[in-house]
Amino acid sequence: MVKKPFHFLLHIGLLIALGLNLAGCNKPDAKEEAAAFKPGASLQEIMLSIIDPNADHVWNSVSIIITDKGVEEHSPKTDEEWAEVRQHAITLAEAANLLLITGRKVAHEGAETSTHPVELGAEHIEQAIAKDRAAFIASAHLLHTAVYEAIIAIDKKDPDDLMRAGEHIQQACEACHAKFWYPDEKTPTFPSLSGS
Ligand code: HEC
Repeated sequence: MVKKPFHFLLHIGLLIALGLNLAGCNKPDAKEEAAAFKPGASLQEIMLSIIDPNADHVWNSVSIIITDKGVEEHSPKTDEEWAEVRQHAITLAEAANLLLITGRKVAHEGAETSTHPVELGAEHIEQAIAKDRAAFIASAHLLHTAVYEAIIAIDKKDPDDLMRAGEHIQQACEACHAKFWYPDEKTPTFPSLSGS
């Protein structure tokens, strides 16, 4: 008999604490939100470990090879093969979002981003991104959109659409590289993103 009211009060207390907590969760302050990401990998590591290998899987899943015997078209055939290329496409699409996490270094100390005279060093790439972050974001979104074109083609099991989407993915890679990695290249393959 004595215990009941005590428990009751304890529950009320817990509910109030929970309520306060939930109220707090509804409005995470900006600092807390930024702290939620731990961008340990550099942009360069994301390119080499996630973006490049997964893009290769998507590109290599469809091909047209011209031999002396004629034209050979390769594309996923079984459900498993389509599911596998889809996994790589999803990974690639989400990797575009990883590029947008703030506080990520372009390259770790001592890592070289410039192996050709026209390619910028990490410090200059960082400056270029800071100067025109809107174009950098637009460029990552362009990649995301092109990859979703590929995902739609995969879901339709349509090799021609997947091939076209692959070209758009390549143009998205190139647009960002031309603007932020080798802006001094004289003849970019694709029109670079106009500065905004
Ligand atoms: C939003 C911008 C952006 C997009 C989109 C982008 N990249 Fe990059 N990428 C960069 C920057 C900046 C560098 C230069 C820094 C570096 O060397 O990693 C780079 C470098 C690279 C490198 C060289 C890494 C090294 O240093 O050896 C590869 C490979 C690469 N990207 C592949 C790709 C592929 C493939 C795609 C498209 C599927 C792509 N990137 C899309 C920004 C982007």
